[in-house]
Amino acid sequence: MNNFKAAFFTILVVVTQSVFAQNQDTNTYKEQYRLQTHFSPKAHWINDPNGMVYFNHTYHLFFQYYPNGSTWGPMHWGHAISTDLAHWKELPIALYPDSLGYIFSGSAVVDSNNTSGFAKGGKIPLVAIFTAHDPKAEHEGKNNFENQSIAYSLDEGLTWTKFEGNPVLKNLGIRDFRDPNVMWYAPQKKWIMTLATLDRVTFYSSTNLKDWKKESDFGSNLGSHDGVWECPNLFSLQFNKKTYWVLIGNINPGGPNKGSATQYFVGEFNGTNFLQMGDTKTKWIDYGPDDYAGVTWNNTGNRKIFLGWMSNWIYANQLPTEKWRNAMTIPRELSLKNVNGEFYLSSTPVAELNTLDLSPIKIPASKLKTDYLFEGKVQSGFKLKFAINHATDFSIKLYNDEGDNLIIGYDKAKNQYYIDRTHAGISSFNREFAKTVFAPKISNFATSIVEIIFDNSSLEFFGDDGLSIMSALYFPKKPYNHLQFKFNANNLVKQVELVPTKSIW
Ligand code: FRU
Repeated sequence: MNNFKAAFFTILVVVTQSVFAQNQDTNTYKEQYRLQTHFSPKAHWINDPNGMVYFNHTYHLFFQYYPNGSTWGPMHWGHAISTDLAHWKELPIALYPDSLGYIFSGSAVVDSNNTSGFAKGGKIPLVAIFTAHDPKAEHEGKNNFENQSIAYSLDEGLTWTKFEGNPVLKNLGIRDFRDPNVMWYAPQKKWIMTLATLDRVTFYSSTNLKDWKKESDFGSNLGSHDGVWECPNLFSLQFNKKTYWVLIGNINPGGPNKGSATQYFVGEFNGTNFLQMGDTKTKWIDYGPDDYAGVTWNNTGNRKIFLGWMSNWIYANQLPTEKWRNAMTIPRELSLKNVNGEFYLSSTPVAELNTLDLSPIKIPASKLKTDYLFEGKVQSGFKLKFAINHATDFSIKLYNDEGDNLIIGYDKAKNQYYIDRTHAGISSFNREFAKTVFAPKISNFATSIVEIIFDNSSLEFFGDDGLSIMSALYFPKKPYNHLQFKFNANNLVKQVELVPTKSIW
């Protein structure tokens, strides 16, 4: 045995075929690759999450949707609701394209004070603020084809009335002028809209959601600029009882592992200007290739819950699913962490998802010295959770008898985590897909928690106590049925917890 091999124990977990088996029949939600613990629509294409708002004990998730095909097309807002952030019920389409254009991304707010005047019979209006994208004007080479419109609902988002005064914010000639994200700024009793304007965000304010005034710009010389800025989101988080502001700016392309990704800034906001604090190094919410257009739910108090589109514009239209295409990430709870005086966002799976847990299997460090046979029943996915000292490399491999394998690990020399999906299965649909992706380990704590959520064709890696995140898709030719750990068991704090999870469908 060479030194490298001697340093590690190899643990083979043989998983019974049924454990990862995917139902081959064509029933909805049971197709090969259909995600079982993530939201995807019954059929057809989706991209960005939109209009995320919590109202009357219900989480609303609207989404960019093309109901007539499985590739991107004229955009509608689809609609789904959940009371537990785990199970989703898809509802009828909420917004259809109109004479002003396709319904592009945007947000929704609860107008409790009826600032808009849309309330009727004491019913609180939900107001959606979105981009109307006029394909005809775009085709004609105009540069003002994206304008902001609003619509309201008095029946909890089921039916919507578009405002007759649309658009409410007109474009003065910026080609990329979209994705309004609106929040209530209580200190000055006004709404703040954060809008992606080509290579920056622009803040607007309003007291009635109909008349908007420009406040300021941010970011033209900060953060990543290797693509167009899209889907911004401004919100506050508490840290040691102090309020800090976080500004999310999605960018495409230009991500750390190519293509679409989500950067963020931490700073101060005074109702007019956002000021970044600390060092200006670009920070990413998720370093993986498959988390884009993510924003947070409105109206959740001090809790901030983030959800992204689990795909990448490089290949989103080509993924090897047919009836449906693309899905959302799991909802993640955001918090601020101070690492050596610098603020970072930490993401963890929302606790509500634990309702999907089946009996956990605890694999103690001592057991990692021999082959470990796992005979539990995983119906649809599973999670791995462990606390580990990062003194040496470690890795986890999933594989099948077709030669497909997926490796997730930590490289001590480079102090970074990685996901290697080079040989993870089908990848011929796009040459950029098969590759290894990386995320730096942010903190200098040697011991931290790693949690990985596996579904039929996706994994979400939460490393370094939630500071280093990577989401990645994969399409094995046959379900993976083996799991192998390469750990230095001395580094494992206690045990690996393997938690099979139930399907949400
Ligand atoms: C981001 C995005 C948005 C736009 C929408 C169109 O993925 O390009 O900027 O509003 O998708 O579907």
